[in-house]
Amino acid sequence: MEEEIINLLKREEKLSDEALDEIKNIEINDFADTIKDVGSEPTEYIKKDEIVNGLNTKVVGKNIYIFKEVMSTNTIAKFLSENGAENGTVIISEKQSNAKGRMGKAWESPLGGIWLSIILNPQVDHSKIPMITLTTGVAVAKTLERIGIKNAEIKWPNDLMINDKKVCGILTEAIAKFNTIEKVIIGVGIDANLDVTSLPEELQSGTTTLDVELGEKVDENEVIRIFLEEFEKIGIKFNNEEYENILKEWRKRSYSIGKIVEVRKPFNEYYDGYVLGISREGALVVEKIDGTLEKVISGECIIKN
Ligand code: BTN
Repeated sequence: MEEEIINLLKREEKLSDEALDEIKNIEINDFADTIKDVGSEPTEYIKKDEIVNGLNTKVVGKNIYIFKEVMSTNTIAKFLSENGAENGTVIISEKQSNAKGRMGKAWESPLGGIWLSIILNPQVDHSKIPMITLTTGVAVAKTLERIGIKNAEIKWPNDLMINDKKVCGILTEAIAKFNTIEKVIIGVGIDANLDVTSLPEELQSGTTTLDVELGEKVDENEVIRIFLEEFEKIGIKFNNEEYENILKEWRKRSYSIGKIVEVRKPFNEYYDGYVLGISREGALVVEKIDGTLEKVISGECIIKN
């Protein structure tokens, strides 16, 4: 069974029904040992010591699992969270073979990037999910500011942009029971030191990296450490329901407000509009061409020239 879990962690192989049953009874410590087995393969540049050395957090990053390659840190995080992993557990991989982006898209994750997921047990209702994503976006923006990138902006809901190019994406996945969110997995992908020309051609012109913007390679471990700290700091505000404060931080860095956009909602509903702002729930407030106002909770928003 252990072999099956290891395969799942590495290559998303399916688990047998027996193995799934067995996992439900497994102690988290045993499970963690299996995870460590996979994680014991030497990594090239992500090093736990360098992340935790000086890490100033109480909860976020107390448990960190680092992998050389997995299919998706979000999948591992989901699997771990369902098997008792603690609030604030972090999963990081140097490479992902089947990473997930928003709206069912794939996410390119070659070596040189920062691909991580955080497990949270927030005990809030479903309506707070958009706010969790926006909060994470602010944490990434603050991280970039601390490493010297002062002009990062947040494109609703969750893309970090520098000079009109995307440098980071965030994928929030909730595990809900009735109306209460039991667990939330926050996946963050930052294009740190990777070579943009190694990405598929259609992504190249719209993508930038931290090293291109700074003119030198960044220390991925330092960026991760700073991000975990910023995430915990703003997470405390979230837990204290200081949403207006978080939204103020988001608005200050908004890439979307004041722009003409094409809103693409799930189920192929498209329309153009002008972005007026962001609401208390974290929805984008758009004035449609006919003057009506719309709150967009989920979907995509393409900036029009
Ligand atoms: C987007 O489409 O902009 C969201 C991209 C999210 C990518 C990250 S990388 C770490 C985590 N694992 C995944 O499979 N996806 C997220």
